[in-house]
Amino acid sequence: MIDARSIISRLKRGEEVTKEELHWFATGLSDGSVSDAQAGAFAMCICLRGLSSSNRIALTLAMRNSGQLLSWKGIEGPVIDKHSTGGVGDCVSLVLIPALAACGGYIPKISGRGLGHTGGTLDKLEAIPGVKTQVSSDQLKCILKEAGCAIVGATSRIAPADKRLYAVRDVTATVDSVDLIAASILSKKLAVNPDALVLDVKVGRGALVKTISEAQMLATVLTDIANSNEFKCKTTALITDMNQPLAPVLGNALELREVMRVLTGDTNSGALLEVVSALGGELLSNTNLAEDRHQGVDKVKQTIRDGRAAEHFNKMIYAMGGPATFCHDWDQVLPCAKVIHEVVASSEGYICSVNGERLGLAVIDLGGGRKVETDSINASVGISAILRIGTKVDKGQPIALIHAQKKEDAFNAERVILDAIKLSSTPPIIPVLIHDRVH
Ligand code: URA
Repeated sequence: MIDARSIISRLKRGEEVTKEELHWFATGLSDGSVSDAQAGAFAMCICLRGLSSSNRIALTLAMRNSGQLLSWKGIEGPVIDKHSTGGVGDCVSLVLIPALAACGGYIPKISGRGLGHTGGTLDKLEAIPGVKTQVSSDQLKCILKEAGCAIVGATSRIAPADKRLYAVRDVTATVDSVDLIAASILSKKLAVNPDALVLDVKVGRGALVKTISEAQMLATVLTDIANSNEFKCKTTALITDMNQPLAPVLGNALELREVMRVLTGDTNSGALLEVVSALGGELLSNTNLAEDRHQGVDKVKQTIRDGRAAEHFNKMIYAMGGPATFCHDWDQVLPCAKVIHEVVASSEGYICSVNGERLGLAVIDLGGGRKVETDSINASVGISAILRIGTKVDKGQPIALIHAQKKEDAFNAERVILDAIKLSSTPPIIPVLIHDRVH
């Protein structure tokens, strides 16, 4: 007879539990037969004592199997997916997903909303009038057949055990456990049932993990679980830098504008394109769509250059309820803020640090993100033209532009931005963009 007390006791001593016990516990989390106290104790034991590699795999499997496993019968091509551990100004998915579709992949991406100082891909897409991101699994399949890609919200049927455990972790100081983070991320990603996966593990002050060694540990645990015999999902992780925003913009409509500029060849937004093509190269080489990652990188860049990625983005937006010609009309369709205010350098020097976390919080204060789950979002506000680390500036030169609803909001944001973007008199070390690759 399996019971919660016995599972928790063994986890407390750092011992292994069985696959059946973890399955029992995950089922209890989703049907409510395991109490909040037991869930909290379970999370704390794992947080303090860790899990063995086989128990990590078993917990991920049990949490994935607590809900629906999506099926892609009738989709003729590899089903692939990408996950990011989240960052500031991270619009990678919005460029990468249509580019992968243009390369022949099918990408049913389940994304989230803004969390803390980081933005959410769903909130960005919903800046487009008419776009609906909450769809049924049948509708998701239709969008996928139409456009080759879809970016939608999770239904309550995807990994419900994780939904419950995540809420408990949030209030029991047990979020920062590599084992729990990995099982949480992968139970949802693997419920989508992809043939291959690429993980963008962000590291730096704007990210969930702050040091390279923590990021390597998380990337290793994640790739070990996904590639295990239990899941057989070909998975690679890149550790990418989040010591400054990836794109020079923050805010839902502003980030979409940047994405459209990249997709329509209007900017060669270096950092964003480099991370997009590196992740895409890894993913394509994990399927039969590219011979190796170098060919994969070239293919992704080519679909952006020749406009095929933009076409897929347009098809996806239309299939999700948006305008039919968004790729041509985006500049008129996307909302604009009433006030635009320049933030200027107080002295000459080099941009030496950009605190993405503080900039992200400034965007929330401007109304561009949520303080509580029920807040509504103003898609038009944010910060643009953020200079990158290493840029030389003269006194009085703009270092960022604020987009606000009211002058007063802009003045408040200006104080935060001047504190978040620091200048030095000598050239700083420029952070590398891709720190490591874990296969
Ligand atoms: N993202 C998730 O989905 N789960 C975690 O635990 C952390 C980040």
